[in-house]
Amino acid sequence: MTRKILVTSALPYANGAIHLGHLVEYIQTDIWSRFQKMRGHECWYVCADDTHGTPIMLRAEKEGITPEALIERVHAEHSRDFAGFHVAFDNYYTTHSDETRHYSEDIFAKLKTAGLIEVRSIEQYYDPVKEMFLPDRFIKGECPKCGTKDQYGDACESCGAAYAPTDLKNPYSAVSGAKPVLKSSDHYFFKLSDPRCQSFLRQWTKNGARLQTEASNKLQEWLGEPGENKLTDWDISRDAPYFGFEIPGDDGKSTGKFFYVWLDAPIGYMGSFKNFCDKTGLDFDEYWGKDSQAELYHFIGKDILYFHALFWPAELEHAGYRTPTNVFAHGFLTVDGAKMSKSRGTFITAESYLQQGLNPEWLRYYFAAKLNGTMEDIDLNLEDFAQRVNSDLVGKYINIASRAAGFIAKRFDGKLLHAHVNERFHADLPGLREAAEEIAGYYEARDSARALRRVMALADQINQYVDKNQPWVLAKDKEKDELLHYVCSALINAFRLLTIYLKPVLPKLAQRAEEFLNVAPLHWADAGHLLPPAHLINAYEHLMQRIDPKQIEALVAANRESLAPTPAAVPAAVSPAPSSAASHSPQRHAQHQQAAEDKAQASAGGPYISIDDFSKVELRIARIADAQHVEGADKLIRLTLDLGEGEGKTRNVFAGIKSAYDPAQLVGRLTVMVANLAPRKMKFGMSEGMVLAASDADDKSTGLFLLSPDSGAQPGMRVK
Ligand code: 2FM
Ligand code: ZN
Repeated sequence: MTRKILVTSALPYANGAIHLGHLVEYIQTDIWSRFQKMRGHECWYVCADDTHGTPIMLRAEKEGITPEALIERVHAEHSRDFAGFHVAFDNYYTTHSDETRHYSEDIFAKLKTAGLIEVRSIEQYYDPVKEMFLPDRFIKGECPKCGTKDQYGDACESCGAAYAPTDLKNPYSAVSGAKPVLKSSDHYFFKLSDPRCQSFLRQWTKNGARLQTEASNKLQEWLGEPGENKLTDWDISRDAPYFGFEIPGDDGKSTGKFFYVWLDAPIGYMGSFKNFCDKTGLDFDEYWGKDSQAELYHFIGKDILYFHALFWPAELEHAGYRTPTNVFAHGFLTVDGAKMSKSRGTFITAESYLQQGLNPEWLRYYFAAKLNGTMEDIDLNLEDFAQRVNSDLVGKYINIASRAAGFIAKRFDGKLLHAHVNERFHADLPGLREAAEEIAGYYEARDSARALRRVMALADQINQYVDKNQPWVLAKDKEKDELLHYVCSALINAFRLLTIYLKPVLPKLAQRAEEFLNVAPLHWADAGHLLPPAHLINAYEHLMQRIDPKQIEALVAANRESLAPTPAAVPAAVSPAPSSAASHSPQRHAQHQQAAEDKAQASAGGPYISIDDFSKVELRIARIADAQHVEGADKLIRLTLDLGEGEGKTRNVFAGIKSAYDPAQLVGRLTVMVANLAPRKMKFGMSEGMVLAASDADDKSTGLFLLSPDSGAQPGMRVK
């Protein structure tokens, strides 16, 4: 039965470059959509740029251009990068479109009619110089918990505390530097707390086939126990100035309010598909209508699950549209086991990867070999990347064609054996054709890692067959011509089958293999038969180069940024998380995380120590039971530390942190101390250990930051 399937990837913001972190998602979705097409299903893959919001408005202003000009330029850049990685959207559109405006207004009007929109006045920080309300991430100040300076309005990067912008001490606008003032304004809310939304979502998430287990668990956590009402209403409007769609008032009156970017972003999926329908004659309602029988899947990063599995289905349901069949969330990308880093050169853009002359299919293969359909993070280990690609693709797969093609060309005029090889083939290479359905099952479940493991096991089996039959030995004996012809024909057929199995991942390579094999574009069903007798193949040209590790070194060097301080920039495309439940993604917040990370990198280096050396240092959690000024000392605070060693037992430590902390602030908080440092007699008394704090090389320019454990840690716990 032909399925009708609509697939989307999250819409990238229109103010930043596509990087390898993004590509995990687009490559994964592309593989899945190509697979469905190869299976003969009607599958459409649509996406768009996410073009609205304050960061894009301010970025355009900074560049001295209109937001329209900015998003047009970025659209061209994104389209170029995706094409470069063979991500084959059926439509790549923009949310700044008539179609997205139409569905945003339509959904809003229907939710309003259903009584699910409410206007409420809220108080927010306002920049009196810039004359605009400030999103949380455009307000900075001192963390209300640990006092660290220059923290964003929603969370502290030093102690991890989450808070409201109004909790910040000494707040300032990251746009103008002005002190923000509190100002009230009317906002539109989508009433997610309404019992109808609650009961719909409970029922929607109950469908076991709908969400991945981890996602379903997250949803249960957000929804709470039956009877509990944990969901809060969602603020879907923003005040001018804002780059977006103005919210229509009654009777076409102006409201002066705009839809929040996260309201129209997922509606952009509909907008892009509608635009595609208008170009192709497809029926929009067949995919989005309430009674649609089509399947709808959103591939997303795990950090935006809240938007896609709560707000989005609740909106669609109550506006009279169908809801997603499933939401497929994936994890984040790390490179060499750590967050992508500009200072290490592992924050790699799609553009630079291609400019350095690396083959995009190497990365497609590597990501596919790691993706297994879960929300686990995946790691791009650069050494393993080269080894895996060289060994699997060049050493195992391509090798099969190159070992057989020369003999067919030179000895048999480019023609395969003049007889059917079916039965003999099956006996010699059992399971090769039969694996088609098993491998299809893995792709269907988005477990491309397993699919590729199976394909490479088949490639091993074929290479063993080559070694056993030694065509190069057969070629020396004229009497063995027939056998040589058969063995090489079997190998060309085997290569063709592997090409089918790899084609969703390696579309360009498969295309070149099809030219070599002289066959029409391969579909999955083609695994059901072999090439016809005496089939003529084309001359073999090498299909893929090996990765030279030097290319990777050059790529990393090209992306390594100097450690010179960068000017404070407008944050990258960031949106406030809808609640503390939705964690921030490393990719999304990569830019400002970078600063802290670069600092850490600056002081890294030097020779390694062994794990044994490290374990000599006894690090423990300590509670600061008391903190006092030390008379006559400029830099020191006397800390009384509780390590949970029993009644009244504490340690006395003199810490050089006076420049950054007021003793009163410290009492009660947890920190990390070196517990086995030999006691040291100081001018002011004995110091029985050391507390850990982060700082720049010179301790001055950016201050000192005492370490804190995550919540739940107890005094005395060992840190290792
Ligand atoms: O988080 C992001 O990068 C958003 N631009 C994703 C939007 S996905 C969808 F809702 F449009
Ligand atoms: Zn803090």
